[in-house]
Amino acid sequence: MDNNSQKEIVKVTKLSKTFRLSYKQRKENKTDDKYLKAVDDLSFSLYEGEIYGLLGPNGAGKTTTLRMLATLLTPSSGNIYLDDKDIQKNLEETRRNIGFLTSELKLDNFFTPDYTFDFFAELYGLDKTQRMRRKEILFYQFGIDEYRYKKIGELSSGMKQKVSLAISLIHDPKIIIYDEPTNGLDIIASKAVEDYLLKLKEENKSIIISTHILPLVEKLSDRIGIIIAGKMQFEGNRKEVSNLGGLEKLFFDIYQKVRDEEDA
Ligand SMILES: Nc1ncnc2c1ncn2[C@@H]1O[C@H](COP(=O)(O)OP(=O)(O)OP(=O)(O)O)[C@@H](O)[C@H]1O
Ligand SMILES: [Mg+2]
Repeated sequence: MDNNSQKEIVKVTKLSKTFRLSYKQRKENKTDDKYLKAVDDLSFSLYEGEIYGLLGPNGAGKTTTLRMLATLLTPSSGNIYLDDKDIQKNLEETRRNIGFLTSELKLDNFFTPDYTFDFFAELYGLDKTQRMRRKEILFYQFGIDEYRYKKIGELSSGMKQKVSLAISLIHDPKIIIYDEPTNGLDIIASKAVEDYLLKLKEENKSIIISTHILPLVEKLSDRIGIIIAGKMQFEGNRKEVSNLGGLEKLFFDIYQKVRDEEDA
């Protein structure tokens, strides 16, 4: 895809996040350091109508980055712009434009998918007609219809994930930020998510997705970023990845290179 002709919709510049570790966290992390730099001077862009795959080993800083993009976490330094506007200065507008999903997000077990959907639809200011229309489309797409009146607590983790996916899209956001969206889904549901992401892309939505499933990223992403220890270590489009021997090889090559540099 030719990015030069595309609009830069999200721009991340020199983004960093440092966590202050509690005594308990220091013990758990087996460190005396009082601070942990989870995201370290990260810069990248998301273009309109593209799917960007963010990869990295456990603890690389992917979730931290995506939470900052979704305004759920304040950066320690650096900036994020949406349509050239600093998201920290436009929290409400940003949230209206973003659909966010992370595996850490928990739905209330006591309510039904139907009720939960209505609750969030109201939060986003949808009127009844809009709400019914969105519910019909999304419940159908993710196969939620048959258990819409069951309590969420009684659903399997994959079913819960499907409900979370539907809810993340209630307000028809133009930017979609998904942290491990196919986590816990069977292959049928995963395929439905993949298909839906491609459909959203066709609608010119901009999507950033983080996952450990390399074939998924390789198949869906227009561009790929690999982050290790909070730093962007590689960025390239699908063709570049393929020319470097495919994603799995590239991932391990980059990982090894970073480790060798650390040891040097
Ligand atoms: N609230 C927090 N307080 C302290 N440290 C944190 C906090 N959140 C994340 N971290 C640390 O920041 C680093 C990056 O975590 P993050 O969750 O962003 O990684 P990740 O790339 O999403 O990993 P995974 O692939 O396992 O999901 C880790 O070392 C993690 O322990
Ligand atoms: Mg994560």
